[in-house]
Parts: sequence; structure tokens; C-alpha cells
Amino acid sequence: MSKVQDIINTRRTIYRFTQQEVRQDSIDQALLAASNAPCHKHTHPWRFFVMGGNIRQALIPLITKLANEKSRKNNSLDFTKDVQRAVNKIILPPVIIAVTSKKSPTDSFREKEDYAGSVCALQNLVLSFWDNGIGSQWTTGAITRHEETYAALKIDSSKWEIIGFVKSGYPAAVPQVNKLSVDDISVYMD
Ligand SMILES: Cc1cc2nc3c(=O)[nH]c(=O)nc-3n(C[C@H](O)[C@H](O)[C@H](O)COP(=O)(O)O)c2cc1C
Repeated sequence: MSKVQDIINTRRTIYRFTQQEVRQDSIDQALLAASNAPCHKHTHPWRFFVMGGNIRQALIPLITKLANEKSRKNNSLDFTKDVQRAVNKIILPPVIIAVTSKKSPTDSFREKEDYAGSVCALQNLVLSFWDNGIGSQWTTGAITRHEETYAALKIDSSKWEIIGFVKSGYPAAVPQVNKLSVDDISVYMD
């Protein structure tokens, strides 16, 4: 199997990271891979916001609020633990990149195609990281969709959609996932 096949087929979503720092050249490579994704009409509809310590800190009040609301809704027995877990999710990953895709409010087909291109870019980013031994988790939790997040990141929500936060770092564990077989997903037609 070629290395690229191996990278594609072994990639798994990584939920826990070691605290080993991710080198800037690995981030640069991943962003270059992202920028080489296909996009119809050369719209280059993706942008990547690499989130440092200050911006993550700025999101903590919102994360706390959302975690409290979720705990209440779920009748959780331990609000404090729930909030700490939610805060850790934004503080602990060595790298977090908010990925945006261009909106086209008057052209739903363009917006759909641009979203498709942005997803290709996001996956290129993730696969480039994986090639360097770095795992990623694409997340679309409430924090990624909240208007206050757009404001904190200075992203104009009328023009751009945050399609997720990609959290990356060296894997503490690589989960096993069952996938459908090739036979299950394909149909050969005469
Ligand atoms: C559009 C999209 C949104 C996702 N959002 C989340 C998320 O919010 N939280 C999370 O833990 N994983 C999220 N994931 C990761 C999936 O749970 C993961 O891809 C799935 O379990 C399959 O595992 P694999 O990536 O290892 O193949 C998301 C994946 C995609 C494609």
C-alpha cells in the first residue's frame, strides 16, 4: 500500500491528545494541503483561524454558560465537573483551528458547492496532520455555532459559516472504528 493510501485509511478521529507541542512547520504544511483542495469556479471558499491562548480564554464565559445550560437540561448531578470538562475541551488541545466556509445567501447551489470544497480543504488539513503523526477531531458543538463565537473571532456571520473547530495534537489513544465494507458502499452497473 502506498503511503497516501495508508494515511487515508488509518486516519481516525482523535479525542485525547498528549501535551506535546505541534510544530509550526506541521501547521504550515497542513494549511498548504488545505489550500490545495478542489473548489468549483476557483472560489477558495475556506479560511482557517488558528486559535491561540487569548482567543480560547475569551470563549470560556460562553463555554461555561453553554455547559451549564446543557447540564441543567440533562439533569446532571455534577455541574462543576461538566463545566470543567467543557472548559478543558477548549484549553487542552495543542492546536485548535476554526474553519469557515463562504456563504452565498442569494445562491444556495454556490453555497453548497463551496461547503463541499471547504470540507475537502478541512480533510486535506486533517490528513496532512495525520501524515505527521498528529491526530484531529472535527467538532461542531454549540460553541462553534454561537453568535458570540463569531463575534470573539471577528468573523462576519452574514458572509462566513464556521463549519467546525478542528482540534489537533499527538494522539493519547487511537480509537478503533467499524466502517462499512467496500461491497456495502458500492454498486457496479453494467
Ligand atoms: C461534519 C462532522 C461533524 C463532526 N462533529 C463532531 C463533534 O461535534 N464531536 C465529535 O466528537 N466528533 C465529531 N465528528 C467526528 C465523528 O464523530 C467521527 O468522524 C466519527 O465518529 C467516525 O470516526 P472516524 O473519524 O475515526 O472515522 C464530526 C465529523 C464530521 C464529518
